[in-house]
Amino acid sequence: MPHILITGANGQLGHALVTQFASADRLTCWTRPDRDIADPAIADAVAEAGPDVVINAAAWTDVDGAEEAPEDAFAVNALGPKYLAEGCARCGAEFVQVSTNEVFSGEAGRYYREYEQISPGSTYARSKAAGEHAITAVLDRLYIVRVAWLYAPGGNNFPAKISAAADRLGSLRVVSDEFGNPTHAPDVAAAIAQLIEKRRFGIYHLTNDGCASRYEWAVELMRLTGRQSLPVTPIAAHEWPRPTMPPPHAVLINQAGAALGINLRNWREALADYVRTEFSM
Ligand SMILES: NC(=O)c1ccc[n+]([C@@H]2O[C@H](COP(=O)([O-])OP(=O)(O)OC[C@H]3O[C@@H](n4cnc5c(N)ncnc54)[C@H](OP(=O)(O)O)[C@@H]3O)[C@@H](O)[C@H]2O)c1
Repeated sequence: MPHILITGANGQLGHALVTQFASADRLTCWTRPDRDIADPAIADAVAEAGPDVVINAAAWTDVDGAEEAPEDAFAVNALGPKYLAEGCARCGAEFVQVSTNEVFSGEAGRYYREYEQISPGSTYARSKAAGEHAITAVLDRLYIVRVAWLYAPGGNNFPAKISAAADRLGSLRVVSDEFGNPTHAPDVAAAIAQLIEKRRFGIYHLTNDGCASRYEWAVELMRLTGRQSLPVTPIAAHEWPRPTMPPPHAVLINQAGAALGINLRNWREALADYVRTEFSM
């Protein structure tokens, strides 16, 4: 197994990647306190570490907060991947950059394969799109892995927040006209491990199979945690105002990965696994 370097090792996906690659001959894990990917010196650090593969799971992920701090979001999400790619170019490493479904405008009813034109709306989405462009200018041997609606045990994610709100309020109001692919981070980590063995560089959509509205996701979570009688009211996105309006239907299709035999299970099956771990059911 090659020497793997993981950035953002304390994040939801980063943690899942550390677990996935725990048996690698050599594993280097960097958290934000170890190394700031927005520091240009990160390129030297990568070149010195000399890994075979760098997987960047570090990112500015505060979508609403990016509107208030666009320079900081671009520094982490656009310049950070560029510096990492420069380090990879210097030591001959391959690079996996994790990106987002939000690079697509997500008009109602649209499904997005890997080759579709991107059209990011929010500052966060533009910063992630800029990261995709920046690394493509530096490196050929790279994978861009777009994911969506990530969650993992212990994370600060939609299922955790919905579960806490259900306990606190005894009922839920959940947006029913925003759709995506609920995706279990450990499944993405396993898919990335499969992908880097193929050495077929390019853009991939590695999400759990199928799609859901936030409302359907919440209802399924309530069912799986034995709270099916808790009232869940569907509401429109405009009834839940946010500083940024997410793309209503940025649903990803995994065509490129599936063609190589990389298939992620259905989101309901993955959510059931998460519930067993997180709620000890
Ligand atoms: N979460 C989602 O629903 C979602 C959806 C689509 C795409 N994605 C993408 O998937 C990837 C992983 O997301 P995630 O949910 O695992 O994110 P996460 O849990 O927020 O983890 C991100 C990690 O990056 C670290 N980080 C932030 N700024 C950094 C910097 N300047 N230098 C080094 N590390 C830094 C954070 O450290 P601190 O904890 O110290 O801040 C955190 O550990 C990201 O590329 C994200 O854009 C996520």
